[in-house]
Amino acid sequence: MCGIVGYVGPKDARDVVLEGLRRLEYRGYDSAGIAVVADGQLSSAKKAGKLANLEKLLADQPLPAATVGIGHTRWATHGGPTDRNAHPHLSADGTVAVIHNGIIENFAALRAECESAGVEFTSETDTEVAAHLLAAAYAAAPEGQGRLAEAMRVICRRLEGAFTLVATSAHEPDTLVAARRSSPLVVGVGDGEYFLGSDVAAFISHTREARELGQDEVVEIDRHRGLSVTDFAGNPVEPKSYTVDWDAEAAEKGGYDWFMLKEIAEQPKAIADTLLGRLGANGELVLDEVRLSDQDLRDIDKIFVVACGTAYHAGLIAKYAIEHWTRIPVEVEVASEFRYRDPVLDRSTLVVVVSQSGETMDTLMALRHAKDQKARVLAICNANGSTIPRESDAVLYTHAGPEIAVASTKGFLTQLVACYLVGLFLAQVRGIKYEDEVATVVAELRELPAAVAKVLEQMEPVRELGRSMADADRMLFLGRHVSFPVALEGALKLKELAYIHAEGFAAGELKHGPIAVVDEGTPVVIVVPPRARDLLHAKVVSNIQEVRARGARTIVIAEEGDEDVVPYADHVIRVPRTPTLLAPVVTTVPLQVLACEIADSRGLDVDQPRNLAKSVTVE
Ligand code: F6R
Repeated sequence: MCGIVGYVGPKDARDVVLEGLRRLEYRGYDSAGIAVVADGQLSSAKKAGKLANLEKLLADQPLPAATVGIGHTRWATHGGPTDRNAHPHLSADGTVAVIHNGIIENFAALRAECESAGVEFTSETDTEVAAHLLAAAYAAAPEGQGRLAEAMRVICRRLEGAFTLVATSAHEPDTLVAARRSSPLVVGVGDGEYFLGSDVAAFISHTREARELGQDEVVEIDRHRGLSVTDFAGNPVEPKSYTVDWDAEAAEKGGYDWFMLKEIAEQPKAIADTLLGRLGANGELVLDEVRLSDQDLRDIDKIFVVACGTAYHAGLIAKYAIEHWTRIPVEVEVASEFRYRDPVLDRSTLVVVVSQSGETMDTLMALRHAKDQKARVLAICNANGSTIPRESDAVLYTHAGPEIAVASTKGFLTQLVACYLVGLFLAQVRGIKYEDEVATVVAELRELPAAVAKVLEQMEPVRELGRSMADADRMLFLGRHVSFPVALEGALKLKELAYIHAEGFAAGELKHGPIAVVDEGTPVVIVVPPRARDLLHAKVVSNIQEVRARGARTIVIAEEGDEDVVPYADHVIRVPRTPTLLAPVVTTVPLQVLACEIADSRGLDVDQPRNLAKSVTVE
């Protein structure tokens, strides 16, 4: 949420910053802006709407070439998506420019303080206070090297909430200063050049060498003096280095019309990569960073899976698998609700936080609450070096590669696979399953990439169906058991991409109320369990008949060879036979394709749906 870019080095900062913004636009697209320092002068430009609007403005009114620059792409929180509220925000004397991601919670009091000192605000944002405070702190800071960084530390000690701030100043034309608390920021280190980004996509075409910034740290990047990091008190900190394990090509569309289509197509590989090397010689699961002993894992008597949106749906499916394999009770909870209801947590609780981005604020706050209550926290995450894994006791990375489309696809399937691995590992460590039993399920997991590839080969009829549904105004999704969360996910994908009202239900619940909304022509998607699950299968086939009898247009997702559904289905979408608990990995795929195709047919921006942004870094 909000993309931040910074550059210090020999190249033209305008080009580097704009390229970075293009790569980060998925984090927010309400407005965009850029500031550069050239010849001791600060110049900036900003524009509401997508980055293309800013690019057009810059083509008409170019900024001067520069070697230091910052850029921002916004997802609006405080103040509407207007030109005035776009970042960068400048201090009243025009010498300092600031960009920000997050929310400064005490901005009202700070704004009142600035106003009583005579400052006139030009925007409704919380960010603008940071620009004015920084200019004042700079004026008060001792002269000499590092003055802007010192001013940043001074203001950060006063700010409440979550923030990444990046500042540039006409007074220090070779320097960028940035700070972070609970919002993301990474540093890229090239040959004589430095980059700042909300995530590594901002600079991946220039360097794969990154430095992780910790909580409450300030980084100063100077063209001549290089990089230095301190905490907010000014104590030096050594940032952790890492090399990004994907390259610029992974963040390109690669010939697809949409990133989402590319990411859907990448799912077989993403699953295979997530499984790769996970099982040691003795069948044990290899967690990337484990700070949990086998004894810790044996002591667990309750598990919470906590996540948001699509990741929450992965958690709902994980509950079936983990409870079945480990016999440990699992609760699944939306992260934004978790800490506010005082959940019962202690040392023997394992909290599994699931997050593709590793930066979702609701999930991060839930994690911190769990740790305060002494629970053990295991993160399932796709973004190396992000905040959530860093603050967890253990992490299992999904290896999906960069997910650029706002709607999560490969992130979701790999989260499922990681959840399965956690369940199997726990079952083995606790002696509920023998190694060979675990190995059997792992062998089934290894079949999933091929199964998903097969689903993808058969998607043309689904696309056709999607094109025929461009005018739909509502849609229902039904499933039972593990297919219930799949139905929720199908409905979420349709809502967020096609702006069609959709709801997912446990198919058995339909008769308790929702069936009243079904009438002639209502499209209803039903995800049918494998036939091996006799009782459940028969019941879902009855549910199809129930909605069909009320005039529904039935779209049925069923395994190959399931002929029972045919008489009641207007459309059958086939998926390969897959063991019940693993079936969501294959049954979700047609729902992703369907939503994508419907949105595309409606002429919508599939990758950047309205009102949304990737990586939700505000609560
Ligand atoms: C929907 C979607 C969101 C995310 C949610 C959590 O397609 O992508 O619902 O799943 O915002 O994001 P992460 O996984 O980054 O914590």
